[in-house]
Amino acid sequence: MSLIRRQDRSPIVAILFIQALVYGGLYLLSPYLEALLGYTIPLFWGMLAQGVFAGLITALCGFSRWWIVGQAALPPLAVLALAANIPVWVFPVILILLVLIFWNVATNRVPLYLTNKETAAALLDMCPKTSGLHFADLGSGLGGTLRFLARHLPDARFTGLETAPLPFAATYLFGKFGGPRNLSFRFQDIWKQDLAEFDIVYCFLSPVPMARLFEKAKNELKPGSLFISNSFAIPEHEPDEVVLLEDRRKTRLLVWKM
Ligand SMILES: C[S@@+](CC[C@H](N)C(=O)[O-])C[C@H]1O[C@@H](n2cnc3c(N)ncnc32)[C@H](O)[C@@H]1O
Repeated sequence: MSLIRRQDRSPIVAILFIQALVYGGLYLLSPYLEALLGYTIPLFWGMLAQGVFAGLITALCGFSRWWIVGQAALPPLAVLALAANIPVWVFPVILILLVLIFWNVATNRVPLYLTNKETAAALLDMCPKTSGLHFADLGSGLGGTLRFLARHLPDARFTGLETAPLPFAATYLFGKFGGPRNLSFRFQDIWKQDLAEFDIVYCFLSPVPMARLFEKAKNELKPGSLFISNSFAIPEHEPDEVVLLEDRRKTRLLVWKM
């Protein structure tokens, strides 16, 4: 299991490995089962068993709900698709697209959801209007927050760090063709980025990485820099300021001054 759970392994390698492992196991077992039952196991039942065992192993490996559901549903759906004449490549393609978007769910336990307009406006209010300010979004997703800020603060610089391949590619291409000049996106793991170059670091991640990220921020950010977390607290570290928003989510921006 530890082989699969290694943080630096791509989730797609792990999920394909699990499916292959279960397939191999069932393939070896099926002659004995069929001899015991006295009939050939229909393909659909075989794929149902494949899904159940793949889902169970995925759960045991600590993947989140959506990975487990995907792993369990994919094999029987593939058989149904064959019966319905839906081209069988459709499902792996959908799966691969989902993996490329939600890349950091399995490895970092951080899904993709987006900062809303009200929160972006609140962040704009919090930015000092001095030239040369460098603002980072750790895990910049589709880049909407940074595009909004970069348009309103042309004298500041904005940098997004992202490792999910599809969101990164989309923001990078948008930046290359017509994005604001003070905005850039890096294909960069937040854990490998020195934060010292930023004056404000913003993140909207999940509860899982917050304690480790705050330690990193404390060690690397310059005195006077701001660390802002959308919604997710840091155990045993009260924020210096909490900005409460009147949006639908009742967003809380937690602010620490270094
Ligand atoms: C909840 S989304 C927030 C997106 C964006 N910041 C926003 O507020 O709209 C979190 C993003 O962080 C990215 N992410 C998670 N862990 C990361 C890591 N270690 N390095 C880079 N990006 C990461 C995810 O791929 C995801 O796109």
